[in-house]
Amino acid sequence: MAIPVILVFGATGKIGGALVEELLPAHAAGRVKLVAAVRRPEAAPAFEARGLEARLIDLDLAETRGLEPIVGAMRGVDRVFLLTGYDVRMIAQSKAAIDAARAVGASQIVHVGAHASPDTTIVHFAWHQVVEAYIDRSGVDATHLRPTSFMQNLPLLLQVGGAQPGVLPHYLGDARTSWVDTGDVARVAAVALREPKAHAGRAYGLGTEAASMPEIAALLAEITGLPWRDEAREPAGFLRTMTALGADPVYMACVRNVFERTRSGSLKDAADTFDTVQRLTGRAPTTLRDYIERHRAAFS
Ligand SMILES: NC(=O)c1ccc[n+]([C@@H]2O[C@H](COP(=O)([O-])OP(=O)(O)OC[C@H]3O[C@@H](n4cnc5c(N)ncnc54)[C@H](OP(=O)(O)O)[C@@H]3O)[C@@H](O)[C@H]2O)c1
Repeated sequence: MAIPVILVFGATGKIGGALVEELLPAHAAGRVKLVAAVRRPEAAPAFEARGLEARLIDLDLAETRGLEPIVGAMRGVDRVFLLTGYDVRMIAQSKAAIDAARAVGASQIVHVGAHASPDTTIVHFAWHQVVEAYIDRSGVDATHLRPTSFMQNLPLLLQVGGAQPGVLPHYLGDARTSWVDTGDVARVAAVALREPKAHAGRAYGLGTEAASMPEIAALLAEITGLPWRDEAREPAGFLRTMTALGADPVYMACVRNVFERTRSGSLKDAADTFDTVQRLTGRAPTTLRDYIERHRAAFS
């Protein structure tokens, strides 16, 4: 039987990078052929050095160059891991990838979306739901991964917040929100990609622990032995800061709205948690305590 070819979009990012690590042993053992999709040529050598093929795919180029170059780059691919970035262009990027996956006869798409109730009115969550519906319409077997807030956002808050040492700036008031480690999202993606049939037509919520920012600041203090405290800020400041740093203002306005509605309590699904990681991987998920202990240097 031919070795299944797995193409990983977002291989240079957090989840995609962790997924490559997760699937490398199966690649090295010849059970799968792992291919990294890179949109910048300079990203290719790092994958090639580890024995992976890297294919140059910039999904934004579909609009000006048509779908054919993407179809060409995806030839021979059986299973697609689809992830896009923090940008309104994610809708068109996803459509191009899904259309190309269908054109090359791929048999599976594992897609990273976001957890939200089916009738959500949060706009970027709705974009993810529209992408999921388009995947379902494509006829390609699909597994939808729906993570909540990434634990990896915590060091990011310190970087962009420009706060004093020992201060955790945030925009959530005292509300609890749900957290997941991107490594756990990648591990679940790997399970689905290894056994497509078992996970076809499934959607998995991925949020393993609920905690408020004051609770996380207390955890930081306990683990590092330093006097951490949280600092609640106005969500509008998040949008200003991220936009000034070059992030997409359309997407970041959606994140601001999530912050507004989480702290006001009108986002009922914000603190949902699931047993997906334990159930699918057979391993306990990373807790916030584990995450902070592993990344102690970032908080010390
Ligand atoms: N952060 C959260 O709390 C959270 C929660 C729930 C869901 N999500 C979802 O998670 C996803 C992001 O995951 P992540 O944090 O792992 O992403 P990430 O680290 O920001 O990586 C994004 C990846 O997408 C690639 N990419 C960007 N534009 C592309 C294009 N035009 N063509 C091809 N590839 C392109 C990037 O390549 P380069 O390296 O070249 O830029 C990078 O590899 C988003 O869909 C987001 O909505 C996030």
